[in-house]
Amino acid sequence: MSRYIILLLSFYAAVCHGHKLRQNGRQFPEGFLFGAATASYQVEGAWNEDGKSENIWDHMTHNDPCIIKDCSNGDIAADSYHKYQRDVEMMRELGLDFYRFSISWSRIMPTSFPDQINQAGVDYYNNLINEMLKYNIEPMVTLYHWDLPQKLQELGGWANPHIVDWYGDYARTMFQLFGDRVKYWITINEPYQVCYQGYGDVLKAPRLNLKGIGEYMCGKNILLAHARAYHIYDEEFRPSQGGIIFISYSAQWYEPDTEKRYRCCRRSQPVHEKVAAKSAAQGFARSRLVELSPEEVEYIRGTSDIFGLNHYVSFLVYRNESVYGSYDIPSFSDDLEVGLYQKNEWLIGESDFTKVVPWGFYNLLTKIREDYNNPTIFITENGFASRGGLNDDDRITYYRLYLDAMLDAIAEGSDIRAYTTWSLMDNYEWMYGYTERFGLYEINYNDPERPRTPRKSAFMYKEILRSRTLDFNFVPEITTMTIDDGH
Ligand code: BGC
Repeated sequence: MSRYIILLLSFYAAVCHGHKLRQNGRQFPEGFLFGAATASYQVEGAWNEDGKSENIWDHMTHNDPCIIKDCSNGDIAADSYHKYQRDVEMMRELGLDFYRFSISWSRIMPTSFPDQINQAGVDYYNNLINEMLKYNIEPMVTLYHWDLPQKLQELGGWANPHIVDWYGDYARTMFQLFGDRVKYWITINEPYQVCYQGYGDVLKAPRLNLKGIGEYMCGKNILLAHARAYHIYDEEFRPSQGGIIFISYSAQWYEPDTEKRYRCCRRSQPVHEKVAAKSAAQGFARSRLVELSPEEVEYIRGTSDIFGLNHYVSFLVYRNESVYGSYDIPSFSDDLEVGLYQKNEWLIGESDFTKVVPWGFYNLLTKIREDYNNPTIFITENGFASRGGLNDDDRITYYRLYLDAMLDAIAEGSDIRAYTTWSLMDNYEWMYGYTERFGLYEINYNDPERPRTPRKSAFMYKEILRSRTLDFNFVPEITTMTIDDGH
């Protein structure tokens, strides 16, 4: 035990940069909410069951399997479509206040439009929601977590301005179906990842790789679609349903690397002017960064009741001569004109997916507080990847350090009201297939029953939720998981 604490403290001292060491036993604020998250394509499976139609991940993984690291797909995944009762049991074991999951558009609307509603899909989400509510676990629902119906992709997906209507119609139907019980709605999970990785690069479906063009077209439409859902909820549903609705951004922390020279802390030119100038110089007839009209800006302004924040990693950034011309032209990276990298010493564990930089999280939360007038924040994702195994001490270290950094920000005034781990259980990690594991519960993919087994980190998270403190003296152990919710 003492070896563990010494190791933990020395690691902590090594990664702690820019803020002080803290004492043990720190308290979370009264009413603070704890949850865990997943997303439909990553856990549900049942890809073509009971009337569900094809989405862009089904399409891509079936047509080109080996662009995924282990040539896998989400056809079965964690099989949550059939195992939702066990999932709720896990939420009860942990003592979650809420569970964040997403709805599969193509499961409920097989044509992509509201002309046909697939009752089996509705039943699935009703069953899940009702089972959670039976045990006072609040549903937090993401409307879009990356699994666009394939038919809509064939019509251009997020690059087609009509998607603002399509998505609005879908959102309205979800509020009608589930809004009597769902009080937390997330419109879009990570617009930047959807647009940059899927339209401007090959890192996510649909892998359009339309660099410097596709991501900007997508960006405009996805923001307008988000705003459409917000206004629909605000005007048609909030008065009777009384929930909140917001967007979740993935924000990394970018720390200027002074050694490599950095002189871009404050942009000298508004971003749209800069891209317009570059576009003209590159021979385009108009700016690649499609503009929003003043009316569209007004339509989007204020359309998030709180700040939904996903955070995983930090980078060091620099700008010097080596950066210019080092990226594809045109591209978002070239428009940005910064170099970025991570330090090897930030790495713990076998996966190089998540580097441990808690001070980056603290700096990000501080920056949001200072620059955006201290908005209410829900951390809607934060988590650590491993390669599997139940003894996940590295994940425990990660969670403790990140929660500690978050408590620092709260102590200094940040209005953070909720924290969500990614993830409740192992799931399909997009282009990495099943090679990266983020779960508090391990899933055995070799077993058709997809058994879920709590990792050591699950016992730690349970203790944090029980005690509502972060106690570095607590030594988590793998024992028998129990349900202590009185039911
Ligand atoms: C996404 C998740 C993903 C996680 C880990 C987040 O950006 O929302 O779907 O599994 O990162 O990569």
